[in-house]
Amino acid sequence: MSDASPPAYTGPRRILSGIQASGALHLGNYLGALKRFVALQDQGDPLFVFVADMHAITVWQDPALLAQQTREIAAAYLASGLDPAKAAIFPQSAVPQHAELAWIFNCVARLGWLDRMTQFKEKSGKHKERSSVGLYTYPVLQAADILLYKATEVPVGEDQKQHLELTRDIAAKFNNDFSAPGFFPLPEPLIQGPGTRVMSLRDGAAKMSKSDPSDASRINLTDDADAISQKIKKSKTDMGVMPEVGAALDDRPEVRNLIAIYAALSDQTRDQVTADFAGQGFGAFKPKLAELAVEALAPITAEMRRLMADPAEIDRVLSAGAEQARNIAAPVVAETKRIVGFWRG
Ligand code: AMP
Ligand code: TRP
Repeated sequence: MSDASPPAYTGPRRILSGIQASGALHLGNYLGALKRFVALQDQGDPLFVFVADMHAITVWQDPALLAQQTREIAAAYLASGLDPAKAAIFPQSAVPQHAELAWIFNCVARLGWLDRMTQFKEKSGKHKERSSVGLYTYPVLQAADILLYKATEVPVGEDQKQHLELTRDIAAKFNNDFSAPGFFPLPEPLIQGPGTRVMSLRDGAAKMSKSDPSDASRINLTDDADAISQKIKKSKTDMGVMPEVGAALDDRPEVRNLIAIYAALSDQTRDQVTADFAGQGFGAFKPKLAELAVEALAPITAEMRRLMADPAEIDRVLSAGAEQARNIAAPVVAETKRIVGFWRG
């Protein structure tokens, strides 16, 4: 082996991301994921946006609700502005190649790599031995989701950074072990802007999350204008006033979070926001923030309700998206199996 680095991937730019089909979406998902997917659809590159229902079942999901949860995420995609003419929108489980490639990658990834995954540690809690094996190998399926389409960029929230690093490690090891230089790309995470790590409204040190027992900690996509205003009004701040610049916020996590939310919702930088409110208390800022949040979320909530009332439209989008996805995925898996050396009759 020479010291020279292997030839880089030379395929086209492709963007892919997904959200789990496991319950209610919140403002963190909107700013960290949905809003950013929509912003990417007009750049002219192929865009794949799926519902991760196979990831959802790594923890128990009621079979009577799972398909409905899948439709709900699809409804959120459409209601946020994703256009099925520009993005393939599909359920992961409708493309069997995800599972096929995941198995091969299970044999490429090392136990030591998965042992380092912090999300598994958080999700498995004190009772690791009672977790599903799927929860442990979850990031390997995620790598398959991405590399199946040879995606080069993956817009996600900050919490997914480690899974993207693992994806790159799997791609590099596969390319190297099977002497297939440049076969899989080493995808880059797209994690930029103030909305990539939205924190709890009650605790600036905790991520806004659907698993937080306090509903006041998050703004749900299903909250009405009143609930949104109340939650923002009651959100934790401190006794200080708004500083002149965003950089002065390092030891004020709750205030920093509200400013980041404001910046992300209004497509401004933190400094533009602080400049507008400098020296004022939060009594003036919070109603403005609530107004912005309602303005952004109310039309999405209404459109999600409309779509969910007649799932036929959603189902049509998901079927067409799955077919598009399978058309890209099938030849990649066929080629992967050939590289691995599987029997071909
Ligand atoms: P999940 O609901 O965990 O499948 O997350 C779906 C997407 O939302 C992923 O891209 C996450 O990184 C993103 N996300 C989840 N929670 C947050 C948060 N609090 N702030 C920003 N992005 C988030
Ligand atoms: N693990 C991601 C999350 O919890 C969801 C996901 C699954 C994903 N597969 C993906 C995101 C592939 C990006 C690309 O947010």
